[in-house]
Amino acid sequence: MSILTAPVSVDSRELEGRVAVVTGGASGMGLATVHALARRGATVAVFDLAVLGDGDLASLPADRVRPVAVDVTDGDQVDRAFASLLAEQPGLDILVNAAGVAPPTPFEFITENEWSRVLAVNVNGTFLCCRRAVPAMRSGGWGRIVNFSSTAGKTISTAGGAHYTTAKHGVLGLTRHLAKAYGPDGVTVNAVCPGLIDTPMTRGLLPEESLEKATRSFPVPRVGQPWEVAELVAFLASDRAAYITGAAVDINGGDLIV
Ligand SMILES: NC(=O)c1ccc[n+]([C@@H]2O[C@H](COP(=O)([O-])OP(=O)(O)OC[C@H]3O[C@@H](n4cnc5c(N)ncnc54)[C@H](O)[C@@H]3O)[C@@H](O)[C@H]2O)c1
Repeated sequence: MSILTAPVSVDSRELEGRVAVVTGGASGMGLATVHALARRGATVAVFDLAVLGDGDLASLPADRVRPVAVDVTDGDQVDRAFASLLAEQPGLDILVNAAGVAPPTPFEFITENEWSRVLAVNVNGTFLCCRRAVPAMRSGGWGRIVNFSSTAGKTISTAGGAHYTTAKHGVLGLTRHLAKAYGPDGVTVNAVCPGLIDTPMTRGLLPEESLEKATRSFPVPRVGQPWEVAELVAFLASDRAAYITGAAVDINGGDLIV
């Protein structure tokens, strides 16, 4: 069974005609989100430093996904990527900010450079992409922004460092501010707060035994799958979620119940 796509048929075409950008879409939950949006009919631009693998998009129509090499911490690259997308597409409807890094460095060993890098990818990247997406969404009178925070944004990170915890709290602040500002224009802005999900990031931080041990005590006693988070993102990106904005939605198997 694929960890990227839901094991149920998604026959809904509810995102047909929608144009989406997914940052960090070459791996993990971002990649699963690309699948979920494209399966529902959206055209998806994948903004990532990494290159998509040959098999990553095999089950999707080739014309529905466009990989774009972008470092989301670089304002010029982000601006150029949005400008070129908007020159080709009628508008922009959906932005998912999934690009992230989470080094596990203990607090006293975090250098200024590493601190800045973690804030730059997780927070600045989200800001830079939202800054370009919002005007396009406002002019279309409809928009959905979904930002990746984490349980680390509500409490502290399981495996990432203090910079990661700080960054994911920051993502929630930005999400709430934009939700208040742009709701009247038809643009909703929400965050998802995943717990421990089986992705390359998690695999890089926790060995198999630690992951198994950490999740055994959860009310749902297992690690989460990328497609489960992607299904939540796809819902938040749809018309069905029109009355949800400024939310920070938990998806963690009950690890954090607040
Ligand atoms: N894995 C988890 O358990 C977990 C839990 C909570 C939140 N998150 C968050 O969810 C999001 C997705 O995480 P994942 O586990 O799927 O990670 P992942 O490592 O599998 O994927 C992250 C992607 O972000 C891209 N990226 C990193 N820096 C970038 C940059 N500067 N510009 C463009 N792309 C960049 C990477 O190339 C990669 O493709 C992240 O924001 C992460 O912090 C992860």
